[in-house]
Amino acid sequence: MKGVIFVELIKMAEQTFGEDAVDTVLEKAELENGGAFTTVGNYPCSELVKIVLAFSDHSGLSPDALQRAFGNWMMGVFLENYPEFFVDKTSAFAMLEAVDQEVHFEVKKLYPEAELPRFDTRRHGDNRLEMIYSSPRPLDAFCEGLIEACLAHFGEEGSIRRVAHPDTPTSTTFDITLTGERQNG
Ligand code: HEM
Repeated sequence: MKGVIFVELIKMAEQTFGEDAVDTVLEKAELENGGAFTTVGNYPCSELVKIVLAFSDHSGLSPDALQRAFGNWMMGVFLENYPEFFVDKTSAFAMLEAVDQEVHFEVKKLYPEAELPRFDTRRHGDNRLEMIYSSPRPLDAFCEGLIEACLAHFGEEGSIRRVAHPDTPTSTTFDITLTGERQNG
């Protein structure tokens, strides 16, 4: 998993819990490399999971809530660093439908070592999209945070239902239904 993800998680934690707390939590988390991450490095996803659990212990927030918050945070980072993927999209669904074949496809070309999930999408009319997330990494709550933030970016409101696949634990369906008025786009 790319170092930028670790660097941003630690930035979010510093902003939320303060730098001193972050140092203490990372020390206690017994990370393989002592908690030093650079944007150019690559690190195992299991280390990310360890960091999330350590901050969950520290804060009392659930790992799920922390992952979702981090998904929201990362959408801000993507918008700032890769605006070109967003500018030609007129809705959240158009953006979400483009992640697999366009956005992550380009990411993989730029960074062949990137570990990306697979998405299959199914549209049910204008207001409902099923997005099936498949990944060996346990980041479904992070993914939900990204989807939430994507809706917010396009000024849309909706509900996101997370549906597990008992026979395929590496897949989760996000069943997204738009409610309320579109603000723009
Ligand atoms: C808009 C909705 C998006 C969703 C739902 C989404 C979803 C995800 C998820 C869930 C992961 C974690 C890896 C995994 O679960 O297997 C991920 C990783 C990543 N995504 Fe996206 N993504 C989105 C947009 C973007 C955009 C706009 C970019 C910009 C370039 C991007 C670049 C990346 C990168 C660089 C990684 C890390 C890969 C690694 O660490 O090896 N994604 N994405």
